[in-house]
Amino acid sequence: MRLVLMGPPGAGKGTQAQLAAETLGVPKLSTGDMLRAEVKAESDIGKEVADCINRGDLVSDELIMSILAKRITKPDCKTGFVLDGLPRTVAQAQALDKVLSSSDVSLDAIVNLKVAEEDLIKRFTGRRVALGSGRTYHVEHNPPKVDGKCDETGEDLVQRQDDKEDVVRHRLNVYREQTAPVVEFYRNQGRLKEIDGMGSVDEVFADLCTAMGITTASAQQA
Ligand code: AP5
Repeated sequence: MRLVLMGPPGAGKGTQAQLAAETLGVPKLSTGDMLRAEVKAESDIGKEVADCINRGDLVSDELIMSILAKRITKPDCKTGFVLDGLPRTVAQAQALDKVLSSSDVSLDAIVNLKVAEEDLIKRFTGRRVALGSGRTYHVEHNPPKVDGKCDETGEDLVQRQDDKEDVVRHRLNVYREQTAPVVEFYRNQGRLKEIDGMGSVDEVFADLCTAMGITTASAQQA
């Protein structure tokens, strides 16, 4: 299964991508996590993109596609992947199709999570992330088992730099201008499935499984 999750900032892409990847036994590829790891490591790429991420702007198509192309051709992606955070521009969508077709594969499902904007803002204030594992939590809706610690790695949970309200509002504008056209691009090609992202995490995941063509029961057994 090669799955792309679309949706505005805070729609739950990362949360659902984690569940889908665990269920399908394929890697979760989050371009946001990849970039934040570069920033944390203070690599050349990290230094180049840090300001851009903290402002809430997109990094260049060339840079993100070169990172993605390297990752997606690794052996663990042979049987599939869950892509979270890319494509963000129509140029990235076209480049992704090219990268995949050069390996004679294509996307199996492109699913858009729909969430009302006023609900998105509320989700950011409670979000906590584990920078090492890439897991995402919410203090109310999706809390960790131990307060402030990642369930998987035990590392401290932090708030993202780009979760401040003014940056969030800018990211939503960037989404409307640059990423909403990608949703339209896939919709016009008849490739887009849409689900309501407003239910609980489990309810949204059940709808995602249906959109991927797997039943919740078989997902639970996997
Ligand atoms: P990225 O990390 O991809 O951020 P984003 O797309 O803005 O999405 P978020 O991670 O903010 O939200 P999400 O939809 O994953 O929601 P989550 O599951 O966390 O990108 C960050 C930056 O990197 C970009 O601004 C850009 O600079 C750069 N970048 C990345 N990819 C790029 C690309 N392709 N091109 C160029 N630049 C790129 O959920 C949000 C919160 O809600 C959490 O607290 C969660 O626990 C909670 N929650 C989730 N589901 C539910 C639910 N059903 N009910 C209640 N709460 C829920």
